[in-house]
Amino acid sequence: MLQIEIDHLNKHYGGFHALKDINIAIEQGAFVALVGPSGCGKSTLLRTLAGLEKTSSGDLRIAGESVVNKPPRERDVAMVFQSYALYPHMDVEHNMNYSMRLKRRPKQEIADRTRVAAETLGLGALLDRLPKALSGGQRQRVAMGRAIVRNPKVFLFDEPLSNLDAALRVHMRSEIRKLHERLKATSVYVTHDQVEAMTMADHIVVMRAGVIEQQGSPLELYDRPTNKFVAGFIGSPAMNFVPVTVSPEGGRLVLEKDPSQSLPLGRKLVPDARLLAGLRPEHLAFLGGPGDLAIKVIVEAVESTGSMTFVTASVASQQVVAAHSGRPGVGRDSEIILYISPNNVHLFDAETERAIR
Ligand SMILES: Nc1ncnc2c1ncn2[C@@H]1O[C@H](COP(=O)(O)OP(=O)(O)O)[C@@H](O)[C@H]1O
Ligand SMILES: [Mg+2]
Repeated sequence: MLQIEIDHLNKHYGGFHALKDINIAIEQGAFVALVGPSGCGKSTLLRTLAGLEKTSSGDLRIAGESVVNKPPRERDVAMVFQSYALYPHMDVEHNMNYSMRLKRRPKQEIADRTRVAAETLGLGALLDRLPKALSGGQRQRVAMGRAIVRNPKVFLFDEPLSNLDAALRVHMRSEIRKLHERLKATSVYVTHDQVEAMTMADHIVVMRAGVIEQQGSPLELYDRPTNKFVAGFIGSPAMNFVPVTVSPEGGRLVLEKDPSQSLPLGRKLVPDARLLAGLRPEHLAFLGGPGDLAIKVIVEAVESTGSMTFVTASVASQQVVAAHSGRPGVGRDSEIILYISPNNVHLFDAETERAIR
């Protein structure tokens, strides 16, 4: 069943077109990430779903029912913000059950739901603490608790982990994901962090400047990015883009920075077309296999995190990064060959930046 349907949605702020013809269908129980650079419209879209912003045109349906004219409290959604937005003078328990007290729910129901949410989140021992006596991670849990007690159809998260340090962020990612599975709710999760989106979501919506560039499963976006923007946004370190020109007979890619090097592709392309070859760092290997393409490069820098080694190399003035899970014995200023399987070469039109399949 579809839980959320966003249908030709547009949002204008005065003369500024913030959301442009947004179409998304979200299954009941799905975990969807909205990802994109700062300012692309992620929060606007989430706030529109919550009813905190009015739509300019288009429809929004939750559980089959249009909600565009419904106030936030009638939409059965709960939102968790980056800022936590806790009431500083209320303890954990009262922060969590504030919305139920506001609605004058029966005392027993309030107590029961608060207890269950606190147990779910491991906050049982902190119920009488004020927010100022909590760590960042605990505050974020309380903010989630406040959403959970409402037992909503849909959870909306707006960069909830941005204020936490790196280790806690990784931990909370899996906590939120587990919580999502336990509650069997539908979640829409905004982040500018593509790794967060890749690790948490079933379905990712990549946005730029108010437009959906592509949506699909994490691996669909990784394997078949529809344009240069998505290709460069998904994956870490980011994909390398090398300008190339198709040879006159159409079967090879000539490196624009070093025309003495060309790569046979095993298929015909439009002769003389100007393209970008997209090479993921993790697909560039130091040892070749049968059929691999070979690119001669000069090593500029070698950085190791212990488990991973990142080699920055150049072809003329074009830099490429290769990522290696071992410790390749390459030194600075040495000439080496990087190998890549033709299947792993992504091609984009240099003008339109659209993928060429
Ligand atoms: N209330 C508003 N009035 C005018 N412009 C706004 C308003 N809220 C957001 N915007 C603009 O809409 C765009 C998208 O903002 P936002 O949704 O907050 O981006 P994101 O969450 O992806 O960083 C930005 O250019 C922002 O300046
Ligand atoms: Mg935002």
